[in-house]
Amino acid sequence: MLLISTEAMGQKANFIKDEVYRPQIHFTPKAHWINDPNGMVYNNGTYHLFFQHHPYSSIWGPMHWGHATSKDLIHWKEQPIALYPDSLGTIFSGSAVLDKNNTSGFGKNGQAPLVAIFTHHNGKAEKAGRNDFQNQSLAYSNDEGKTWVKFSGNPVLKNPGITDFRDPKVMWYEPQKKWIMTLAAKDRIAFYSSKNLKSWIKESDFGAEAGAHGGVWECPDLFTLDDNGKKVWVLIVSINPGGPNKGSATQYFIGNFNGKTFTSSHTDTRWIDYGPDNYAGITWSNTGNRKIFLGWMSNWLYANVVPTETWRNAMTIPRELKLKHVGNNLLIASETVAELTKIQSKPIIISNVKVNNSIDLSASIGKLKFPCRINLSLEEIKDFSLIVSNDKGEELIIGFDKKGNQYFIDRTKSGKTDFQKEFAGRHVAPRFTDNKKMNVSILIDVSSVELFADDGLTVMTAIFFPNKPYNKIRIHTPEKAAIKKLEYISLKSLQK
Ligand code: FRU
Repeated sequence: MLLISTEAMGQKANFIKDEVYRPQIHFTPKAHWINDPNGMVYNNGTYHLFFQHHPYSSIWGPMHWGHATSKDLIHWKEQPIALYPDSLGTIFSGSAVLDKNNTSGFGKNGQAPLVAIFTHHNGKAEKAGRNDFQNQSLAYSNDEGKTWVKFSGNPVLKNPGITDFRDPKVMWYEPQKKWIMTLAAKDRIAFYSSKNLKSWIKESDFGAEAGAHGGVWECPDLFTLDDNGKKVWVLIVSINPGGPNKGSATQYFIGNFNGKTFTSSHTDTRWIDYGPDNYAGITWSNTGNRKIFLGWMSNWLYANVVPTETWRNAMTIPRELKLKHVGNNLLIASETVAELTKIQSKPIIISNVKVNNSIDLSASIGKLKFPCRINLSLEEIKDFSLIVSNDKGEELIIGFDKKGNQYFIDRTKSGKTDFQKEFAGRHVAPRFTDNKKMNVSILIDVSSVELFADDGLTVMTAIFFPNKPYNKIRIHTPEKAAIKKLEYISLKSLQK
C-alpha cells in the first residue's frame, strides 16, 4: 500500500498553490530561493545566467551561484549549481568574462577560459565583528561554463576595511588593454584595474556626492552605449533602500570613463526602472554592440515573504538598452529583447477605440489569457487606466495621470498584499517626453507586469498575487478619449 505522509501532502499542496503564481515567460528556479542575476556572459551561441541561489530553502541564506543557459534569452534551461560556498565564505554577486587573450593563464589547449569574478562573503568574520569579511575571488571554466574551478590564490582583491565591499563587474578596457573592475564600496563605486584578473590596482572612487544615497550601493555595471556612432559611458548602480518607490531600485549615470575615473554629465538622479520590482540588474558581457540587461524582479522589502514557498522570486524580461535624446538630456530607454516576438501570437488589433468613461475589452479580445502583451497608442495625452481584475473584485491598475505627468501601477487591491505592510500601494514614474502622442506597451505574466512607455523612456516593473487569476480587462478614462490603436498579443507559456 502506498502511504503518503501528511508532510509530503502539505508540500504537494504548496507546490500546486505556488504554481499558480509561477511566471510563464520569466526565469524562475525549479525550486527555492533566488536573487541577483550574476556572471552573465554570452559565449559560443549560449547566454549564461548565473544567479544568487539558496538551493535548500526559499528564504535567503548561504549563497551559491545557480546556473541557467539559453540560446535566445527566452527559453532557459536550469543547469547544475556552478559555485558552492567554501572556507573563504559564501558566494555573493559578481560577473563573468570570456578571457579571449588568456590574460589569466587559466585557459587550456589554446581555448579562452570563462572567468567568474565574485565576492566571497565570510559570515563567521562578520559575526566576529570584523569589517573585512567581503573579498573578491575568481573561478574559471574550460568547458563552456559546465564546471568551475576556484582559483588557488583567492581572494584576489582583499578588503581594505569596508563593511560593504562587493559585487565586482569586470569589463575589458581596450584603449589601455586592461580589465576594469567596478565594485560597490558602501556608499560609492570603486574602480580597479588589472592586466591578468589576478592582481588589482585601485584607480578611483565615484559617487560619494552623486546620485541617490538612501541606502547602500550594490551591483554596479559599467559599459558603453551607442549615441549616433559615438560611444557614451553608462554606470549602473543599485541601491537598497532608497528607491523612488521605496526599497530597492537601480539608478544610472551617463558620463565618461577614461580608464581611471568616471565623471557624470548630469546632477539629477535617474532610475532605469521606476517600479518597485527591478533590482540588481546588470548587462551580459561579450554581446558586441548589443547591451542586454536583466534584473531581479523583487524588492528586499518583501522578497523573503512573498506568498510562494516552493520557489521564490524571478528575473525580469531581458531588455535591450539604448540611448535617446530628450530635449537636452541623453536618457536610457529599455525595450524587451527582440527574441520575445518568437513566442508572440498574431496580434488582435482594435483601431480607433472610443472610450466614454469605461470600455470592457473582453468582448473584443476574447478570454483574457496570461502571459500577454497589450500595446496602446494614443494621439492625444489623456488620463487613462487599464484595469485587469477577477471575480473577487481584485484589480491591478496600470495608467497615466496627466496632471501629475506620471505613469502609475496601482496594486493596492491586487489580491494578497498583507504579507508586508508596504507591498500594497500605488507606484508612480515620471513621463520624460512632451511628445503629443503616447505609446505604452504592457507585458503581463501571471504575477508580474512590466510597463514600457514612450518607446521605453519610462519603465515600471511590479509583481502581484491575486487570490484568483485575473480574467477581465477594461479601460477607464475620466473624460472621453480615443485610443488610436490597441493590440492584444497572447504569448506562449514556457512552463507547459
Ligand atoms: C543585492 C545583494 C548583493 C549581494 C547579494 C547577496 O541584492 O545584496 O549586494 O552580493 O545580494 O545575496
